[in-house]
Amino acid sequence: MDQDHVFLRACRREPTEHTPVWLMRQAGRYMEEYREIRRRISFLKLCKSPELAAEVTLLPVRKLGVDAAIIFGDILLPLEGMGIHLEFSKGGGPLIRNPIRGKGDIERLRIIEPEENVPFLLRAIEIARRELNGGVPLIGFSGAPFTVASYLIEGGRSTDYLKTKGLMFGQGSLWDTLMEKLTEMTIRYLKAQVHHGAQALQLFDSWAGCLSPWDYEACVLPYSRRVIQEVGKDVPLIHFSVGTGGFLQLIKEAGGDVIGIDWRTDLGGAWRRLGYDVGIQGNLDPTVLLASRQVIESHVRRILESAESRPGHIFNLGHGVLPKTPVENVRFMVEKVHQWSRR
Ligand code: CP3
Repeated sequence: MDQDHVFLRACRREPTEHTPVWLMRQAGRYMEEYREIRRRISFLKLCKSPELAAEVTLLPVRKLGVDAAIIFGDILLPLEGMGIHLEFSKGGGPLIRNPIRGKGDIERLRIIEPEENVPFLLRAIEIARRELNGGVPLIGFSGAPFTVASYLIEGGRSTDYLKTKGLMFGQGSLWDTLMEKLTEMTIRYLKAQVHHGAQALQLFDSWAGCLSPWDYEACVLPYSRRVIQEVGKDVPLIHFSVGTGGFLQLIKEAGGDVIGIDWRTDLGGAWRRLGYDVGIQGNLDPTVLLASRQVIESHVRRILESAESRPGHIFNLGHGVLPKTPVENVRFMVEKVHQWSRR
């Protein structure tokens, strides 16, 4: 039975026979099979080929023995249907040629149905579910409104988020209009993923850590909360962010059954502060997987110890797998988590 799987039980903070483990970006460039596919086809084309995207989704399940699959896609995919011109540069980074710069741009953003906007993703979810055949659960995902807004406004990745904060501080009512549109889009996008077979969801607010607690609370939290209230009823939701160790309580306030944290915070301490009425996900530094087995072992052990075998810990990295990571190290890490957490 799907509902009985260790990953889903951990999301509900029920006891499990071992700590479940999966990795953000578990299907990607560090895998030879993935690089082979990418030699033939661009990243966007791959995302839009349901059979291939489902195949890539399953790679880490077969190769690594992880306890969950995450559908292969990207947080920026829904933007194209909104009227945004999305590209991925040779280096892999997203590039938006027509970023949002003012009122007209925001008004022009269309909110359309996921069935029309991202049919390929919904189809990939159905195929992946069929091929998983009752094995590990399938996670759907989206960006949180703030992180998606930052790409829309900056046109790509940023270091200072000057333009994003410029709009947030300088044109509050425009900011609200933009965030409302992204919130609506995100709700529809996640609901459709559940409808087509996603058994859990992760909301990525990867760049929320650039904000002060006050600005997060006033300008971002209400929108993330609305998304989570609307979609978090039917399946468990993991609320992940980076660099928010200083205001994790606000991340919890926004919602989520499980809070995903990065490696800059001690997991045990973070969980104590959050309270044990939520689960916690994390939080190995991804660069540890480039080190020796001894270093990997000591970090895995320390994280498992800090979780104190409490129900509700999902082992993961603090952010995505790095492209230079040796696959054997990932497999070793997964084995150690299973072995040392067995109860
Ligand atoms: O986790 C998984 O295995 C599922 C697939 C997945 C991808 N992107 C594939 C991808 C998921 C969950 C994402 C989420 C995503 N995308 C986030 C949130 C998570 C995070 O990392 O904070 C963000 C910010 C994006 C936007 C994005 N897409 C960036 C910044 C990049 C380039 C960065 C990089 O790692 O190179 C991408 C491209 C991307 N998304 C790749 C993959 C496998 C690399 C594309 C390639 O094959 O060249």
